[in-house]
Amino acid sequence: MKRTLLIVAVIFIIKLQAQNQLSIPPVLNGSQYQLNLQNSTYEFFTGHQTATMGVNGNILGPTLIMNQGDQVDIQVTNNLGQQTTIHWHGMHISAANDGGPHTIIPPGTTWNPQFTVMNRAGTYWYHPHLDEYTDEHVSKGIAGMIIIHDNNELNAGLPVTYGVDDFPLVVQTKDFDGNYQIVNHSNNDDVLMVNATINPYLEVPAQVVRLRLLNGSSQRVFNFGLSGNMPFHLIATDGGLLEAPEQLTRLPLSPGERAEILVNLNGMENQTLYLMSYASEFGNGIYGATNPGMNANMTLNNYNPNALNGNDFNVLELRVVSQTANPVTSIPAQLSTIVPMDENMADAQRNFTLRPVTMGFNQLNGDFTINGVSFDMNTINLTVPLNNTEVWTVTNNSAIAHPFHVHDIQFQILSINGSTNIPAYAQGWHDTFLVPAGGGSIKFITKFEDFADDSIPYMYHCHMLNHEDGGMMGSFTVVDMSNKIEELKNNEAVLYPNPVNGIYMNFILKNTAEKIKSYLIIDASGKIVYQNHFHKNEQNYLMSFPVYTLSSGTYFLKVYTDDKIYTRKFIKN
Ligand code: C2O
Ligand code: CU
Ligand code: CU
Repeated sequence: MKRTLLIVAVIFIIKLQAQNQLSIPPVLNGSQYQLNLQNSTYEFFTGHQTATMGVNGNILGPTLIMNQGDQVDIQVTNNLGQQTTIHWHGMHISAANDGGPHTIIPPGTTWNPQFTVMNRAGTYWYHPHLDEYTDEHVSKGIAGMIIIHDNNELNAGLPVTYGVDDFPLVVQTKDFDGNYQIVNHSNNDDVLMVNATINPYLEVPAQVVRLRLLNGSSQRVFNFGLSGNMPFHLIATDGGLLEAPEQLTRLPLSPGERAEILVNLNGMENQTLYLMSYASEFGNGIYGATNPGMNANMTLNNYNPNALNGNDFNVLELRVVSQTANPVTSIPAQLSTIVPMDENMADAQRNFTLRPVTMGFNQLNGDFTINGVSFDMNTINLTVPLNNTEVWTVTNNSAIAHPFHVHDIQFQILSINGSTNIPAYAQGWHDTFLVPAGGGSIKFITKFEDFADDSIPYMYHCHMLNHEDGGMMGSFTVVDMSNKIEELKNNEAVLYPNPVNGIYMNFILKNTAEKIKSYLIIDASGKIVYQNHFHKNEQNYLMSFPVYTLSSGTYFLKVYTDDKIYTRKFIKN
């Protein structure tokens, strides 16, 4: 009797799955975009209204389709009744347009970023980035896809018709309370949705289709694959097309990451298959595995039981229907050109260490730091000279894998856990990549070009939004030193702008081998009004530091390096 009931229940659950047609976000394109951030409600569960936040609608936001070279003008109006920011994740734009935590949109106001689309064809996205509130605003529903096309991609023989053979898939898990309301900062995210549709199905034509995968979850890592281990072709990572398609059966994707795959459905009309996550194959130490920590003693509050953890599950049912006119029926052989960056050309090597605030068995429930410090809105952690090519090594001394994300740039992975044998999914350009737990590391190379700003920083951070909100984030400015080179020929150090009326100043030493350890600001009466020091991994021959809290007057900056002290006078207007 019990067994019969169980079988009936299982059949019922299987029938319940895949009963809602996948919603496809509407499109905005052209050069002018109007985005209204609003509070709303959405019926995730039949007969129950959930409080949400959306962009121009109830939930999520429109897909912005842009072309490389477009000059775009975006009006972001904040009707949320509280402050937020909107960040263009993966896009190479100036710090002022980037929409990080410092570019707050007060309630009832409109922010107007304007920029030229420079990125390669690919899948990018936008989401809020307010310090300590990113998870709340994203979990409640604000996120949208950005699709960029370029001429090379449009001529590569790929499916490019949105919603017909080219599909946006925003994959997320969320936690709902007993009143069907979204719980943020939760480890009990047991409801899976694609484009905010629970139990979704999608009709796909019997030809080559393109799926754009965005892991928009707050914490969960997916291990994508197709049912029956059917192969697919990876064609793009975060920063756009690979050189050539890579045939795979699995594709791990951590929060913040995107990937595009081609699925060849030729001759499969009337068949049904599933996009799945094979999470049973995750080892310990990944959010999504049975044990999110490196061993079973390291537990995460409210994480288990959850049917998604350590189990294989369906993400999207694909119902194959008849072909469209002019179908793409073969996988192209070539996609784009990627010039590998040479590690020997690097101007700087930097190290980042990821660590729990408190080590030990309970570490997964606490906050995490980068280079031993938590995010501080008033500190610039790093200063990068414009046009620097840099190699960054990120080492994870915690028991859980963290997706490390950097604004402004796309990077190439040089090694994972010290091995230069890079799996196919790690090739190409990335802006977010999972750093393995328990002493694991990734090393990547990138170049900081085109955009310098002495005062507004970019961010690097963990893209698990709980971790980011908990301070697992740092900031960096990119500064243009070319106009300071002449001054540095005649001086040991340069301090600029002086006098200052902005929010940050920059200090550069002529001797690039020297490291700034600490500094203090003294007012005209000799009183110390500000002091700070750099973590060992963040010491360099240049720095940006805040001066906006200082009242008008004359000050002295004292900078300490290994064996020298530099004193410079400056005026705050
Ligand atoms: Cu997707 Cu700094 O964020
Ligand atoms: Cu970003
Ligand atoms: Cu993290």
